[in-house]
Amino acid sequence: MEQNTFDLVAGARPNFMKLAPLVRAFAAIEEELEARGLGWRIVHTGQHYDAAMNDVFFSELGIPVPDVHLEVGSGTHGAQTARIIERYERHLIENRPVATVVFGDVNSTVACTLAAVKLQIPVLHVEAGLRSFDRTMPEEINRVLTDTVSDMLFVSEPSGMANLEREGVSGDRAYLVGNVMIDTLARELPRAAATGIAGRLCVEPGGYGLMTLHRPANVDNPGVLRPVLELLVEFSRSLPMVFPVHPRTQKAVSEHGLDHLLKANGTLKCIPPLPYHENLSLMSQARVVLTDSGGMQEETTYLGVPCLTLRANTERPVTVTHGTSRLVGNDPKNIAKAFDDVMAGQWAKRQDIPLWDGKASERIVRILVDRFSA
Ligand code: UD1
Repeated sequence: MEQNTFDLVAGARPNFMKLAPLVRAFAAIEEELEARGLGWRIVHTGQHYDAAMNDVFFSELGIPVPDVHLEVGSGTHGAQTARIIERYERHLIENRPVATVVFGDVNSTVACTLAAVKLQIPVLHVEAGLRSFDRTMPEEINRVLTDTVSDMLFVSEPSGMANLEREGVSGDRAYLVGNVMIDTLARELPRAAATGIAGRLCVEPGGYGLMTLHRPANVDNPGVLRPVLELLVEFSRSLPMVFPVHPRTQKAVSEHGLDHLLKANGTLKCIPPLPYHENLSLMSQARVVLTDSGGMQEETTYLGVPCLTLRANTERPVTVTHGTSRLVGNDPKNIAKAFDDVMAGQWAKRQDIPLWDGKASERIVRILVDRFSA
């Protein structure tokens, strides 16, 4: 039977742990797909290209080598987005899919959405409906634009459904399916536990903090970055701190002459970006996590680990209302107060979140197969 193929599009690090479970859910019903004339292929835009930001996740999570690679690389938002649109459009014209599946809120998400929708190819957005209501964040623009023109919206938490309803999205376009990234976490946790990364870094389970930082609002301005790093150095005097440094952050640290802070003492351990399992392992055993990552807010909530979210707002409010995340912004006083609260054991406990059960991808694939079968 002739195949109607889904394009599964990923480009940047946070996409890969969302792509992996969907690929697995498709692969698990290969025979049924065949019978229904459906297939899938992976398209990688190349937004992230360093091995540490990219290849390592494919091998760890068992994601097959992409069928198509657009090799766009870095650039300004305009240049990067335009390059993806141009190259993905060319691919679409030559290899028209039955639909394009996009993930999350990175530039690759919105760029591939625009290329597909202009060719009247249905766009299916996984992790739709999230809103920080902060349009200074490039991701918020990406979310709003992607959702506006997507045909099907797969939502990870109840706030996403409420946001879409408020924006006039009709009920038959939006599906509350749960969190595909938690599918990956739940599956990979035993492998994470076996990495032994804490021992290699000479930190004890429950006896260290983990920080990640990469948002432009936190790292691009030295007036913000320097005090946060100084605070990290101070924390590390009472609690060893592990800091995997994102390429954007490393670039900013060097440009602003802050490298000495990263070498301040032996209990602040600055290391290159971590592979998935090692990062998950460190997160799961940390006394506290400090981060501006959207994904890690969700992962710490699932793991029940206190999370100081270094942002003024979040598009993932369930991590604050039902989880272990507290918004502390980037003011050192707020961060220090929250850190003290964690150390004093004064922190919210996690509650169960509906549909964060490891089966979100199966639900999505079932909906897609029913909708797109010939
Ligand atoms: C992107 C996403 C962000 C996501 C983050 C996770 C957008 C708008 N932003 O931000 O939502 O949370 O990924 O990492 O899509 N670089 C490398 N190697 C790489 C990739 C990038 O060195 O493999 C450097 C380049 O100097 C580049 C800079 O990092 O200019 C920023 O990369 P970019 O993809 O533009 O944005 P991120 O900050 O990574």
